[in-house]
Amino acid sequence: MQRFETYLKENLPRVPSFHPIYEEALAAMLDAGGKRFRPMLLLSIVEAYAPMLYSSALPVALSLEMFHTYSLIHDDLPAMDNADLRRGHMTLHKRYDETTAILAGDALNTDAFYLIAKAPLRDDVKIKLVELLAYNGGSRGMVLGQAIDCYFENKPLDIEQVKFLHINKTAKLIAASLQMGAVIVCLEKKTQEELYAFGIDLGLLFQIQDDIIDATQNEEESGKTTKNDNDKNSFVNLLGLEESMAQADTLAKDLQRRFEAFDEKLKTALHPLINQYLHRHKG
Ligand code: IPE
Ligand code: IPE
Ligand code: MG
Ligand code: MG
Ligand code: MG
Repeated sequence: MQRFETYLKENLPRVPSFHPIYEEALAAMLDAGGKRFRPMLLLSIVEAYAPMLYSSALPVALSLEMFHTYSLIHDDLPAMDNADLRRGHMTLHKRYDETTAILAGDALNTDAFYLIAKAPLRDDVKIKLVELLAYNGGSRGMVLGQAIDCYFENKPLDIEQVKFLHINKTAKLIAASLQMGAVIVCLEKKTQEELYAFGIDLGLLFQIQDDIIDATQNEEESGKTTKNDNDKNSFVNLLGLEESMAQADTLAKDLQRRFEAFDEKLKTALHPLINQYLHRHKG
């Protein structure tokens, strides 16, 4: 984690120009922190299977964090969730203006692919990484989820539709993070697919827990605007808080069982990262 954080700080977008705030705005939300869940998923797989590739994987890990940060900057815009606080700081459109926030998001999205293209990895590996990030983050993944999330505000969906929404807006990028790690270390196709499928359910759990955070935490605890899902098809709005927690528990138990069947290397690598999600509601 420390190594990734240092790498990120040293590789924040550097685009000097006579624009007074452009460069600062590009870096602000990346620099602001966050759990770094997606890059750490990728790096933990690399660490487990091919630690000598760790430094070559760092730009790919950063590309995931850049892409995710772009999705957050746009998610917070007035046209979407209209949020004032993110990662303990003012959102970009509040600190600067909407134009700056939209363009910073655009830049991080594109730059994520630039980072992969320039990474010191084999060309065939990089093409697969680009494919995975584009498939899971673009019109077939995160963007589809966000489109449904926003279009269906105040139009209640059923549980299967809400799962579809959560899988697209959040779970696919989390699943891609695991698979991209597996691609870098050349794990066989079947293992890649298992990791992806596990990542989809882990990501679904992650978003259910995020819906619970919106309902239960304040801004200090979460670092972001909360109690903001009133118009949303969140798990909590559909099922209520208690039932959402119960479903999160059931999903967590199922994931725990599947996790136990992974090989030892993988378990050791992933355990510190995902343990908190698999056990959050026990007690
Ligand atoms: C927030 O993501 C948006 C969701 C997809 C739930 P994170 O909870 O990973 O936010 P950061 O990266 O830690 O700020
Ligand atoms: C956003 O989901 C998921 C993204 C793709 C950014 P939310 O709107 O629930 O995320 P938060 O709660 O604002 O972090
Ligand atoms: Mg949103
Ligand atoms: Mg939001
Ligand atoms: Mg949320």
